[in-house]
Amino acid sequence: MNRPDRYAVIGHPVAHSKSPDIHARFAAQTKQHLIYERLLAPLDGFVASVQAFAKGGGRGANITVPFKLEAHALATALTERARAAGAVNTLKFDGDTILGDNTDGIGLVADIVKNAGIAIAGKRVLLLGAGGAARGAVLPLLFEHPAELVIANRTRSKADQLALQFAAHHRNIGASDFAALHGPFDIIINATSASLAADMPPISSALFDSGTLAYDMMYGREATVFMRFAMQHGATARDGLGMLVEQAAESFFVWRGVRPDTASVFAELRAKL
Ligand code: ATR
Repeated sequence: MNRPDRYAVIGHPVAHSKSPDIHARFAAQTKQHLIYERLLAPLDGFVASVQAFAKGGGRGANITVPFKLEAHALATALTERARAAGAVNTLKFDGDTILGDNTDGIGLVADIVKNAGIAIAGKRVLLLGAGGAARGAVLPLLFEHPAELVIANRTRSKADQLALQFAAHHRNIGASDFAALHGPFDIIINATSASLAADMPPISSALFDSGTLAYDMMYGREATVFMRFAMQHGATARDGLGMLVEQAAESFFVWRGVRPDTASVFAELRAKL
């Protein structure tokens, strides 16, 4: 039998990554002959690590913290969504071409629309944060045609900048600070890193009602502070585990042209949290 195709998640740190587990399940399910490893790149040695991996037969990689911007710079070709995000979480090696893609935003959208069964079209959507995680979400969200997409950030200028990047082609995008927001919103997405510190952005409870989906890109065994706040004010809350699985499935599709079933993998991961 031929040697399996090689893939990896490259980051620093990378030991915590669930990607090898997810992709091993996808490969078994779709009968793809591949192995997927963890690759710890030195903080000052990302490019050399990627080049060595590709030279050694690597076919593609997921890129995680803190290398998504360096991966964007390294790619010799970029998808539209990677260009819009300014960051790359998926590399595909094809001869001399290094294709850079970003599947985070489409993973978020798939989890909301397909898994939660909530349309984004025609909705008022609030995106909290204007860092890397938020940036990756904007174009895939706009492609769903929300009635309005408001980006709110602690540092207002970053929200303005991000909205401006898309304003020429999308009239339904705007920026705000937290205090000036008017609710309720149909969908509120927490793309800040506040949950990591068991914190949440200082937003009013009036932004939520019983029809609101409060989505936190973070996930864990327990609900985040943001999710608990949303539920206390009548909203439905969802964490980012589904986004993690869906972004992986999209990367898998970019590499292999096959769409794995995500529901079973999601259930297995949830049970293991
Ligand atoms: P990531 O790649 O996870 O998006 P990042 O690029 O460092 O990380 O961005 C972090 C985001 O979380 C930013 O929007 C940040 O707001 P600022 O731009 O004002 O720094 C936001 N953030 C982090 N901690 C926060 C908190 N406690 N409250 C509100 N926003 C917070």
